[in-house]
Amino acid sequence: MSIISKDIQQAIHILTNEELVAIPTETVYGLAGNIFSEKAINCIFSTKKRPFFNPLIVHLPSVDALNNVVTHIPPKAKLLAEAFWPGSMTLVLPKNNKIPDLITAGKETVAVRIPNHPVTLELLKNLPFPLAAPSANPFGSISPTKPEHVEDYFKNDIKMVLDGGSCSNGIESTIIGFENDEPIIYRLGALAIEDIEDVVGEISIKNKKEESPDAPGMLSKHYAPKTQTFLVDNITEEVKKHQGKKIGVLVFHTSINDDSITEIILSKKSSFQEAASNLYNAMHELDHLHLDVIIAERFPLQGLGKSINDRLQRATFSDS
Ligand code: TXA
Ligand code: MG
Repeated sequence: MSIISKDIQQAIHILTNEELVAIPTETVYGLAGNIFSEKAINCIFSTKKRPFFNPLIVHLPSVDALNNVVTHIPPKAKLLAEAFWPGSMTLVLPKNNKIPDLITAGKETVAVRIPNHPVTLELLKNLPFPLAAPSANPFGSISPTKPEHVEDYFKNDIKMVLDGGSCSNGIESTIIGFENDEPIIYRLGALAIEDIEDVVGEISIKNKKEESPDAPGMLSKHYAPKTQTFLVDNITEEVKKHQGKKIGVLVFHTSINDDSITEIILSKKSSFQEAASNLYNAMHELDHLHLDVIIAERFPLQGLGKSINDRLQRATFSDS
């Protein structure tokens, strides 16, 4: 029997019982548990096979709830919250002493976000506790953007995937931390940098593992299909190098017109937003075809193209 269901009351019941429910958000599905339940949080780490040094994001129903979890909100964090919440932005702020160390991996900061999905907002508003929710995939694998992706990964481990349809943004939230009250991007994500800079001015990026070794979303290999994957500027050239193999290609907007190859076009109308929302589903689909290689086309380095390249780069076997 399928574990996918639209029943919010059932989700409330399971979460109140200190067990896990996969929840929809506009970015990716999350594997959610009560932040105050040691049992639930331990279960998140063991189900995902996630190392304990990798802290979790706390999901809140409203900006008011922020005062219950953090001790300081820099002025630019307030501006960002007003501009982008509910939405695909996570802020890393100084935590108060109610937040368990297990959530933050012992750090003095906590990552928080108000997701913009009607089903999960309703769920959060009806729970007396916030939800910790990492992406609902085994550590290192492709994040889920449809309820079926989560069911494939965890049907034997969790009781329920709360069905909210396909995720409209399709890649994880942009994570922003603060140093001396100035914002810094820790993870590129579903918000375009240009839109963030419109609100707070020029912003620097520290998303390399050398710069933040303790933020594993920045591991150079992550979000990865099982199939060997390459990220290239010239698809046709790369295809020639793999002649005789079973090849899948992932292109932005233009077909390579080769019938012998499985091809997914991410956005025929050249929209970064549409490409981002299709990206992980396309990777899941190609990964299920038992191909020898997946070849992905590098995106233009502007807007969400930067975030898409970041994910494609981490999906590859190369370490550059
Ligand atoms: O869109 C998203 O953010 C999704 C949905 C479910 O909300 N969640 C998500 O969670 O992507 P996860 O656990 O896969 O990625 C969370 C990232 C990790 O890279 C973690 O290292 C970083 O957030 N993080 C969490 N707390 C942090 C902190 N206190 N300081 C720095 N990085 C932190
Ligand atoms: Mg993740």
